[in-house]
Amino acid sequence: MCGIVGYIGNKSAVKPVLSGLKALEYRGYDSAGISFISKDKPLTIKQVGRVEALEEELAEQGTITANLAIGHTRWATHGSPSILNAHPHQNTDETIFVVHNGIIENYQVIRSRLQKFGYKFVSETDTEVIPHLIDYYLIEGVSQETQASGVQGTDEERKEAVPISTVTANRSSKRSNLGASAGRVLGSARKQAGTVSFLEAFEAALKDLVGAYAIGAVYAKEPGKIYVARLSSPLVIGVGVHENFLASDPTAIMEHTKKVIYLNDYEVAEISADDVKIHDIQKAIAVHREHEELDFDQEKAVLGDYPHFMLKEIFEAPQTIQSATRGRLRADTNTVKLGGLESVDQQLKYIDRIVIVACGTSYYAGLVGEYLIEELAGIPVEVQLASEFKYRNEPFSRSTALLAISQSGETADTIAAIKKVEGYGVLRLGIVNTVGSTIARMTDAGVYCHAGPEQSVASTKAFIAQVTVLAEIALHLSQGRTRLYKPLLQELLKLPEKAKEILEHTEEIEILAKKYSGYRDFLYLGRNYSYPCALEGALKLKEISYIHAEGFAAGEMKHGPLAMIDQDFPTFAIACKSPLLEKTLSNIEEIKARKGPVLVIATKGDKQIKKLISDVIYIPDTLEQLQPLLIAIVLQLFSYYVAVEKNLNVDRPRNLAKSVTVE
Ligand code: G6P
Repeated sequence: MCGIVGYIGNKSAVKPVLSGLKALEYRGYDSAGISFISKDKPLTIKQVGRVEALEEELAEQGTITANLAIGHTRWATHGSPSILNAHPHQNTDETIFVVHNGIIENYQVIRSRLQKFGYKFVSETDTEVIPHLIDYYLIEGVSQETQASGVQGTDEERKEAVPISTVTANRSSKRSNLGASAGRVLGSARKQAGTVSFLEAFEAALKDLVGAYAIGAVYAKEPGKIYVARLSSPLVIGVGVHENFLASDPTAIMEHTKKVIYLNDYEVAEISADDVKIHDIQKAIAVHREHEELDFDQEKAVLGDYPHFMLKEIFEAPQTIQSATRGRLRADTNTVKLGGLESVDQQLKYIDRIVIVACGTSYYAGLVGEYLIEELAGIPVEVQLASEFKYRNEPFSRSTALLAISQSGETADTIAAIKKVEGYGVLRLGIVNTVGSTIARMTDAGVYCHAGPEQSVASTKAFIAQVTVLAEIALHLSQGRTRLYKPLLQELLKLPEKAKEILEHTEEIEILAKKYSGYRDFLYLGRNYSYPCALEGALKLKEISYIHAEGFAAGEMKHGPLAMIDQDFPTFAIACKSPLLEKTLSNIEEIKARKGPVLVIATKGDKQIKKLISDVIYIPDTLEQLQPLLIAIVLQLFSYYVAVEKNLNVDRPRNLAKSVTVE
């Protein structure tokens, strides 16, 4: 989703901003733009489509001398992808430039109030209210009471508040609804127009916003500063020598600096080439924060010989399992060592319920985790979609642990789910791939996936890493008390080789993908550990091939799905070695009896299946509990080849984003 990059320093600003925007491309976007101040004059250039198009247009400008620039990649939320809707957005005088990631939920109210004051809007975006609102406060002045109290209250309180005064005729004499329950006074207590600094106007504007934001703002009259703010959206400041940066995530600036400052919610920073001043607008205090040193190297995601990142990432499965187990599992001593959980090991002993929260593919990895933790450790687990969990009223006690799973560590709903349990004394754990991401920082303890950067929108190797880590956590929580402990630990270490075996023979999968690519609908079936795989397989197909696909527990067939089956509705059945195999085979018979085409994933050596079905893909034999790791590779490859056959944009499927940073 939207990406932000900014530069202020003694070097040319445009280049690092463009390269930062390119580094953020993987998040998904449909337009891009940049504002810079060259020879004290601001200029904004925007393009629909790729950052390259923006780069080409910038090249046409000739040499640009600018020491300050803010750039943005936009993933459309309010209004279609167009130049007018692309960021940066500006005020009418073209002195204030804003890039924004997030959603301003009350933008309609602010917009119509500003329109009553004569403000003209040119885009359909929520973001455009921000530069106009800052402009409004610069011109109209800021209530000193509000500035002094700095009170915005909770989101609930702010929702009740009506931003921007309804008072138009005699603004100075009436009590305003501007802001929040604290009540701002336009008039006597007001800091007069003309004496308001940009920072004051910026902060006053922020206090009117409801929703989520990471904002970079530039004021042409202060060409040496970038103002930034954050609330529930990712933002990091990079600290350099006579230069500072701003970005949605560290990958955009890591080639320049590894010194970073993470902003917290309700914090505003004033960034110049040599300084970063932070201010907490809720508490109305200055904040001193030292930079942190990023302790990981930027792994450049390069395609190499692969036609798509998705294929490359699927082929990384063996090393992904290795990286997730390295130093954690020991075959000689049969021990599991999860350093990230050591600090909470005592607390973990008293946990009697685990709630896993996640979105998308991470949610399905969580479902596999549910089966694993319950079977191995005997602890009841519930998996909830983070978007549902955050609004549910459900009881949880201090003996409940919340486990958030996220590849990016920036998914808005998952972050909100973790925030929800703040103050309940609930242990917050994380399984995160992106080191230093918001979720990694806001959880009490956790285990990194170490899968390396995932570029393709459809998650593949992250699922493999998450399930591997979940198996390790299940082993850890079991404290060796399950008969499965030793065999599962030993088998997990053998899985990279078994994954390789699948990847060495992908032709069969490719042939079947071509054969089935013409269908409009698909059913995925599985039981027990294969059930979450069926759900994830259906999601993968939907995401990149745009074929309608549904995952079902095989036992549910007679409760509805069977009605859909005919010769045009194929089923992808997962029928690997399991005590429940016979039952799944019966389901397959029932589908065949209704002329439904069936293809199957089975365990190598299974002779029975071939008598029933001709389209079979075999995976190496492994424990049923670990089958999801191998099944997932087949399902990922199948979707990949279907999408390639349909000539679709595999890595960047339409309408989707890699990092979903808004609700
Ligand atoms: C988006 C991505 C998915 C991902 C999901 C959750 O929808 O396209 O691939 O599974 O977000 O993301 P997370 O980073 O939290 O795992």
